[in-house]
Amino acid sequence: MTLPIIGPLQDFFASLPFPARLLAAVGLFTLLKPLYRLVRVLTDCYVLGGIPLATFGPSKNDPSKASWAVVTGATDGIGKEFALQLAKKGFNIVLASRTQSKLDAVESEISSSSSAQVKTVAINFLHATDADYKRLEAEISQLKLAVLVNNVGLSHDKPVLFSEGDVQEMEAIAEINVRATLRVTRLALPLLQQNKRSLILHLGSFAGSIPTPMLSTYAGTKAFLIGFNRALSYEVASKGVTSLLLNTYFVSTAMSKIRRSSWSVPTPKQYVAQTLAKLGRPGSCYEEDRRGREMTVWPQHALTEWAVREFVGLGRASGMSLKSQKVIRAKAIKREERLAKGQ
Ligand SMILES: NC(=O)c1ccc[n+]([C@@H]2O[C@H](COP(=O)([O-])OP(=O)(O)OC[C@H]3O[C@@H](n4cnc5c(N)ncnc54)[C@H](OP(=O)(O)O)[C@@H]3O)[C@@H](O)[C@H]2O)c1
Repeated sequence: MTLPIIGPLQDFFASLPFPARLLAAVGLFTLLKPLYRLVRVLTDCYVLGGIPLATFGPSKNDPSKASWAVVTGATDGIGKEFALQLAKKGFNIVLASRTQSKLDAVESEISSSSSAQVKTVAINFLHATDADYKRLEAEISQLKLAVLVNNVGLSHDKPVLFSEGDVQEMEAIAEINVRATLRVTRLALPLLQQNKRSLILHLGSFAGSIPTPMLSTYAGTKAFLIGFNRALSYEVASKGVTSLLLNTYFVSTAMSKIRRSSWSVPTPKQYVAQTLAKLGRPGSCYEEDRRGREMTVWPQHALTEWAVREFVGLGRASGMSLKSQKVIRAKAIKREERLAKGQ
């Protein structure tokens, strides 16, 4: 069956002189390209599934045979949710995070909701020494490690011009987002490569793909992760390791300071469930990479990114966000002043 519009359209095109026909064809292509990409984004987010988690060797019935997953920054927000959901899917879990009491609480939460085995490693990635990384390595060296979630991350307390930012904050962000990610990946990779199939997930941020003024250090470290993951993914693919970067927009956590979830801001539970169902689907990370090494698969995040890419451009979007960052800073300062006055 042909659409009723096709015939009149063909007649219309045929009636045009050649230059106008060429122009009309270019115009139609320009119009259809974003629509075609929108369909791909929606198909990734709503229809197609990702690499099944079963590929990486979980076992709900027999934890002694199940693969292990290491999650950094696992006691709150997105990292905690990865730990809980991976445990429910049949993985044993290593929780690597800063505060032992919070690690114990997450361990008992996992134990009460799944049969997974759990190990905890208290490590402060801000001040981690060689000895700390060796301790982490020793804790995991005998495990059948198949999943690494490089989740721990630090952002600015509030937007600030780079020239006025606190030097300690700048160094802490680089230390946690870059150095800890490199060190943990380096010590885990030999173990991951011992399995037929393994998975690395890096928590990236839209601030890395659309570099955000007044969050310059954070944006730079997250852009580093894009480059690091892309290069690494080629190195390890032939060894059975899938390395993916999650291009994450807002999620309601302590870091985002957004308490209530909404249409565009998922809860960590929603975000992690969607991610685990869509592993390797690019969503709206399509221009540079349709191989799915980078993923934006929460539908509202993906639609936002699609709109920005198609109608604004990633470069121009950086410039436009300067204004909104100034507003966010002004609000944060007002809130601090109110708190200081005890209001
Ligand atoms: N939330 C968002 O909107 C958003 C957007 C884009 C990207 N991301 C990325 O997603 C990741 C997780 O963010 P989130 O929002 O879930 O963060 P979060 O709620 O603040 O949780 C951070 C987790 O990391 C741990 N942690 C913090 N500093 C640590 C340190 N020095 N050493 C060891 N562990 C430490 C925390 O432990 P304690 O509980 O002991 O503090 C906590 O378990 C980050 O890489 C972030 O950049 C988040």
